[in-house]
Amino acid sequence: MMKITLFALAALAVALAQEDAPAAAAAPAPAAGGAAPVQILKQVDEVDVDKYNFEFETSDGTSRQETGEYKNDTEQQGLVVKGSYKYVAPDGQQISVTYLADKNGYQPTEEKAADQAAPAPEA
Ligand SMILES: *[C@@H]1O[C@H](CO)[C@@H](O)[C@H](O)[C@H]1NC(C)=O
Repeated sequence: MMKITLFALAALAVALAQEDAPAAAAAPAPAAGGAAPVQILKQVDEVDVDKYNFEFETSDGTSRQETGEYKNDTEQQGLVVKGSYKYVAPDGQQISVTYLADKNGYQPTEEKAADQAAPAPEA
């Protein structure tokens, strides 16, 4: 059951990463406040029979990276997923989470860095 759940999560993550791309790339009209649209700075998608890797980074300080690999040895049978994501919270704090998901479950490590250089307040 755990393995099925991990596979489902991984598949969903890959699907979401791929779905997000065209919409974001279509550069929506600037928001009413005049904020610049968020740009995709980096995007990587690699899918193989027994492993995958995806990565993206956007101009608003958000990034996400994940690799998954199917293992079938004495140590581990099933998917091993390693990844991380970062974003700037509304209060300006940089949130960074690194995680491992394997036979021992989802194991996140969160770091909260000091405020980013605060964006200039809008007039
Ligand atoms: C995992 O490895 C065992 C032992 O080599 C093999 O019998 C089994 O078919 C493998 N399972 C998968 C899903 O590859």
